[in-house]
Amino acid sequence: MGRTATYAEKLITIPEAVAMVKSNMRIGTAIAASEPTGLLTELANQKERLFDVHTWVCLPMRAYEYAMNPEMAEHFFVDNWFYGVNDRKVHSQGRMSYIPNNLHRAATDKLYASGGKLDVFWGTATPPDERGFMSLSLSLVVEKELLKAADLVVLEINENLPWTLGDTQVHISEVDYVVENHIPLFELPSEPSSEVELKIGEYVASLIEDGSTLQLGIGGIPNAITSSLVDRKELGIHTEMFNDGMVDLYEAGAVTNSKKSIYKGKMVGAFALGSKKLYDFLNNNIGVELLQGRVTNDPYVIGQNYKMISVNTALQVDVMGQVCSQSIGYRHFSGTGGQLDTHRGAQLSEGGRGIIALRSTAKKGQISTIVPILSAGSEVTVPSQCVDTVVTEYGIAELRGRSLRERAAALIKITHPDFRDQLWEEVEKLGIVPKVIVPGISFVS
Ligand code: COA
Repeated sequence: MGRTATYAEKLITIPEAVAMVKSNMRIGTAIAASEPTGLLTELANQKERLFDVHTWVCLPMRAYEYAMNPEMAEHFFVDNWFYGVNDRKVHSQGRMSYIPNNLHRAATDKLYASGGKLDVFWGTATPPDERGFMSLSLSLVVEKELLKAADLVVLEINENLPWTLGDTQVHISEVDYVVENHIPLFELPSEPSSEVELKIGEYVASLIEDGSTLQLGIGGIPNAITSSLVDRKELGIHTEMFNDGMVDLYEAGAVTNSKKSIYKGKMVGAFALGSKKLYDFLNNNIGVELLQGRVTNDPYVIGQNYKMISVNTALQVDVMGQVCSQSIGYRHFSGTGGQLDTHRGAQLSEGGRGIIALRSTAKKGQISTIVPILSAGSEVTVPSQCVDTVVTEYGIAELRGRSLRERAAALIKITHPDFRDQLWEEVEKLGIVPKVIVPGISFVS
């Protein structure tokens, strides 16, 4: 069908759209709360005629049969930029693999690896306006790059998606087919912040001055931080992911975006994941722009902000300052996402700072998250030469520009008290930090 056809002429059923997929094809999809649920669900129903079909996904929200069911083994393979809860369970089953990436290069590098070729793009969008424009709504992380590269573009239209502004517009003429699926949007369950998270939030907030621009990452801690920031003035948002806490900050008057040095007056981000409150806030909001991940997360773009503060979470940090946020030993857990992008970008900004905030213990206090050396198999998310500031509920460790022995001292100070002595002993035994203190030379500069 020609690209000049109207919406009504391009409207087909979900099974008809999936019937266009053939064996050995590669399907790139919209991500997270924008994932094309109807199309991805239908894949499993057509498995008998499909072999070696790859999907390119990122942070899937739902457990799709084509990806979860072991019977799908020879039919489908999942290439995944960022694991969600369900993906961790099937990682070891041989039907899914993580794609190492920095988020601002995710789509570009994947297309580079495929020789620029993508057979199919499946996205989601709002119904079109009277001129035929649709909004790609809740994510622009990889979507526009994949849509432009794909031979066949199908959008799943959902009238519940908010009409977001920025670079989200797509015209019906750029799309081959549309299907309709007006399902409720995926919402993250919101849990009240724990005492430990709130304490971490207070320390992080102490590093954030009025007029700063913020990026907040994914997980329980970034949301907890916002409650300590409601009294700040003239904050700005330049983030990868919009969350509910940012709406609270806006409504409290703490976020005005008035001091931003780029995208002044606007909150910018690449995707949104939260509750209906967030999605309603984004709908037709002239104060918010969704931009492509390759823009929001480019460290050189982030670094143009004045007083840019990035806050992300980790699973483990070692005394050298190596940060692991994406695996638990050999077990792949999530992904780098934009952690390194934003951490580095913040340091390039005048008055900026990259913060890694984590609980000092895991497994109900049984293990320390600050360790002599990352566990075997850990994937390094922020290398030691890029690390800036680490925060736990016991305080703040400033590591940027510090020597290994200064880093060890600063990190052990914010380790849970039950593990401090043991950590020193191990660090010295392993020779990570020089044991002999030369008389007259201070330990911490
Ligand atoms: N050793 C073993 N297990 C650990 C651990 C450690 N050092 N640290 C945490 N865990 C366990 C927790 O106990 C928890 O287990 P449970 O699910 O059985 O309770 C699980 O790992 C998750 O830990 P938690 O701290 O609750 O995770 P979170 O939901 O707050 O997410 C990250 C934290 C680091 C996984 C998440 O922020 C992430 O993936 N970050 C990387 C990407 C990123 O930061 N992108 C930024 C831009 S959006």
